[in-house]
Amino acid sequence: MKIELIKGDITKIEADAIVNAANSSLLGGGGVDVAIHRAGGVEILEECKEIRNRQGKCKTGEAVVTTGGNLPSKYVIHTVGPVWNDDEERCCGLLSNCYINSLKLAESLGIKTIAFPNISTGIYRFPKELAAQIAVNAVKNFQPETIEKAIFVCFDDENEMIYRKLID
Ligand code: APR
Repeated sequence: MKIELIKGDITKIEADAIVNAANSSLLGGGGVDVAIHRAGGVEILEECKEIRNRQGKCKTGEAVVTTGGNLPSKYVIHTVGPVWNDDEERCCGLLSNCYINSLKLAESLGIKTIAFPNISTGIYRFPKELAAQIAVNAVKNFQPETIEKAIFVCFDDENEMIYRKLID
């Protein structure tokens, strides 16, 4: 799988799927979640509500998929990152699951390109360097069948610098 780094806003990315750093309610919050719902329109929230009604909340580390609505991407994969806390090992495992489960879901949809934000590194306060290592390792170790390219979309300068170092 090709790995790319883009600095910018994930809602502008043309990929088959973009990943949302959601919360377990799936009903929106702040950060990238709000940006995706704003740019993608109400159709995304409607599908999130249907998923909630069907299967309840989305657990940390798991992922669900909706339409991309008005976004340039066909799908949004919503995954729930861990809130950083004392149980570091558990947090790391859960963050890795976010990437792996998003990739698995993307494969089940036959997706070729997928774009990730820096899950958990905003409101959920996961240390950025550690989060980046987990993200890059999870993607590098994944054995893809359909996915050809994964894009890490960094919004802030610090994440961009960290990812640049890891990827180059
Ligand atoms: N495009 C790409 N990345 C973005 C964008 C954007 N438009 N806006 C913010 N980011 C980046 C932040 O800089 C951060 O590095 O996304 C990363 C994740 O930050 P958050 O959005 O705060 O997500 P997270 O830390 O996983 O916290 C999840 O925040 O948005 C709510 O509903 C969400 O409650 C959940 C919590």
